[in-house]
Amino acid sequence: MPLIPSTQSPLLAQSPYQAYIYAYPHKTAYRPFPARSLSEIWSTEKQNSLFLYIHIPFCEMRCGFCNLFTTINHNDDFVSHYVCTVQRQAQRVKTALGNAQFARFALGGGTPTQLPIAALEAVLDVAEDTMGAALKDIPVSVEVSPETATVEKLQLLRDRGTDRISIGVQSFIDREVLTTQRRQTALQVQTALTRIRKTGFPTLNLDLIYGLPGQTVDTWLHSIRTALQFQPEEIYLYPLYIRPLTGLGMSDRQWEDSRLACYQAGRDLLRAEGYTQVSMRMFRSHQAIESSSPVYCCQADGMVGLGCGARSYTRSLHYSNDYAVNTKEIRSIIEQYIACDDTAFEQADYGFELNREEQQRRFILLSLLSEEGLNGLAYRDRFGSDVLTDFPELQHLIDWNLAHLQTNLLVLSELGIERSDAIGPWLFSEKVQRSMQTYQLK
Ligand SMILES: C[S@@+](CC[C@H](N)C(=O)[O-])C[C@H]1O[C@@H](n2cnc3c(N)ncnc32)[C@H](O)[C@@H]1O
Ligand code: SF4
Repeated sequence: MPLIPSTQSPLLAQSPYQAYIYAYPHKTAYRPFPARSLSEIWSTEKQNSLFLYIHIPFCEMRCGFCNLFTTINHNDDFVSHYVCTVQRQAQRVKTALGNAQFARFALGGGTPTQLPIAALEAVLDVAEDTMGAALKDIPVSVEVSPETATVEKLQLLRDRGTDRISIGVQSFIDREVLTTQRRQTALQVQTALTRIRKTGFPTLNLDLIYGLPGQTVDTWLHSIRTALQFQPEEIYLYPLYIRPLTGLGMSDRQWEDSRLACYQAGRDLLRAEGYTQVSMRMFRSHQAIESSSPVYCCQADGMVGLGCGARSYTRSLHYSNDYAVNTKEIRSIIEQYIACDDTAFEQADYGFELNREEQQRRFILLSLLSEEGLNGLAYRDRFGSDVLTDFPELQHLIDWNLAHLQTNLLVLSELGIERSDAIGPWLFSEKVQRSMQTYQLK
């Protein structure tokens, strides 16, 4: 390992905004592999507290920043075929898993509330009846958008056990939202937030984006203050990333990069208002922490994904369908999913196999980039070795003032949290970096 003087940290020399690490390995590192049966894949996994995720790849609009697997190109017929296919897939997956018990459920997308109410109900039935997830007894989280979060759908979700609603707001300034090709006014958002609060969900999560075209630190703080009027238990502050093939990625518009200043001002405001910073993006209110409501996390090993675009994680294998950003490609992948015969759902043939080193890197990344920090004892328990011996480069984080050691815990410093999106990619293996670089985005 080359020695780098502490004054020359490559992590501080570059932009803090390299990549958002919400999953390791990233889905662009996935590749086809010879088909393996799900029953074999899951046979050695603990199955008593799995995470169930169902993906709904439909939206009312395609926002200019969004590269998620979702389409606006759908009608009721197509949606109804999709939901029937999720049902068929669930039956096969449940049989392959055997005795699986689910400790959490999330419905995401896309926009799950884009589904007509009967289809939304059918998807909840899949989770409850086919997969056996006791929705009223476990944490249940659902993503909504302002216009699709109607009174009836919210009530259905609450009645069926949803305790966390996550809503994309992005900004309360109409002209900023419009620059992202998202059709939504601040008034619509405020009305939706009032409906959500009236329905009585214990946890409201609200997403805001900073670094938008035309946004200033002042307008950014205005958006956060407006959000605070609804007393959300959680707020996510996302720095804007312009990604290939998205609306913003294909436009040649240029604007000043205000992300770092917005991040610092937003973080300070939320702390002053009694929020705890859980990670670079996530903030939780003190009330939420005191009520010990569970932190939403879709990253744990032991995740079973249903629907087209959902990922599934065992300790040693991550798998999913093919991925795309382009509208036609997404539609074609969903059509293939709907056309699958049932036996296709009993196997996996696209993903990433995690050897011991990749499992170690994943463990380090996910714990270090969150409030909990990297626990050397937990690492030793899992891998039987010392984390600083296995990955001596972690010492650099301490030398560069990006982290500090508290007994057995390596915790990011304030500067380190700010640089999370640079630290994450720095910890990727060469194999993952190579796969991501050679991935042909479509
Ligand atoms: C799962 S997404 C979508 C939620 C929901 N469909 C909606 O838009 O209302 C969660 C959040 O990620 C953030 N996000 C997505 N793409 C982004 C990007 N390119 N840059 C910054 N934030 C992004 C947005 O704040 C978005 O609400
Ligand atoms: S941000 Fe949300 S509403 Fe917009 S396209 Fe992405 S998933 Fe759909």
